[in-house]
Amino acid sequence: MTALRVALVGSGWIMDFHARAVREHPGAELVAAANWREPSLRALAERHAIPRVTTDWRGLVTDPEVDAVVIGTPNALHAPQAIAFLEAGKHVLVEKPMASTLAGADAMVAAARRSRGWLMVGHCWRFHPDVRALRARVEAGELGEIVKTRSYGVHARWGPSGWFTDPELAGGGALLDMGVHAIDTTRYLLGDPAPVRVCAAVGTRYGSYAVDDDAVLLVGWSGGANSVVESGWWQPHLAGLEADTELYGTGGYARVWDLTEPPPGYQHCTQPMYSAQLAELVEAVAAGRQPRPGGEDGRVVLEVVDRAYASAARPAG
Ligand SMILES: NC(=O)c1ccc[n+]([C@@H]2O[C@H](COP(=O)([O-])OP(=O)(O)OC[C@H]3O[C@@H](n4cnc5c(N)ncnc54)[C@H](O)[C@@H]3O)[C@@H](O)[C@H]2O)c1
Repeated sequence: MTALRVALVGSGWIMDFHARAVREHPGAELVAAANWREPSLRALAERHAIPRVTTDWRGLVTDPEVDAVVIGTPNALHAPQAIAFLEAGKHVLVEKPMASTLAGADAMVAAARRSRGWLMVGHCWRFHPDVRALRARVEAGELGEIVKTRSYGVHARWGPSGWFTDPELAGGGALLDMGVHAIDTTRYLLGDPAPVRVCAAVGTRYGSYAVDDDAVLLVGWSGGANSVVESGWWQPHLAGLEADTELYGTGGYARVWDLTEPPPGYQHCTQPMYSAQLAELVEAVAAGRQPRPGGEDGRVVLEVVDRAYASAARPAG
């Protein structure tokens, strides 16, 4: 098997995880990186011995030496970048949220259908061993029929700044940034149902920016379960870790992590999860199959977000 030649687009916080994941995988090779600003790009390249760098990501689109890209840029760039690479036949792993708008996600799914390349979305919690173990218990019927769930996508006493709070670049606030982890993890644990009903309250409570930092969603799923999803930044108390999900079934109750406040030094978001995610891309490409979660999975998450924002914008009645 020839190694999958991977390029990175973006050189911010998340990219070290992707760089290490590519370097660790025997079936992948890290060949290039692109970012609009050179200092962080050069630093990333030095840390991971990336042989080629460019400040123009478009230069990689038709590069015959690149088979796949990992996109980790501000959310509004995900759709134009992913579509350009898919149109050139490259495989794409795009960070969550898949796009900053539902229309962007639709365009990406359409581009993937036309492409020789596969589209995968970085809903990384599906690759955490504790989430997978709970999914296996649900699949085995241990909890009976799942009636309701509660899940969390919240940062306590912290929130991001910069482009994350710029509506043009981010497309939304904590719901799009953190809520998507809770929505996708819930959906995965339930066996990937479709949303049939979404009702939400979304607000800006903790900071002075034009995006949301507090939301509560009620999602009704095609399988019959109902989910309460909480998203936020800066909350004073953590009710559950990022992507933590509680399941209430007819036959029992289970929770991914029984830790409402992590002990000092606890690392929630670790390298093996990102490495397993990258491995899915490499293995799916080698096998000629759709990597999961794919564009359609990422699109469902954005549909829930889009319907939540629309629901919250309607006058209460
Ligand atoms: N899966 C996860 O757990 C996880 C965690 C963190 C971030 N993410 C996602 O990864 C993506 C990147 O997040 P991050 O934390 O690395 O952000 P970051 O701010 O650390 O990095 C952003 C990158 O984009 C570049 N950039 C910033 N503004 C730009 C602009 N206007 N035009 C072009 N490039 C620009 C920056 O130079 C940097 O390389 C986001 O979509 C985020 O949601 C996912």
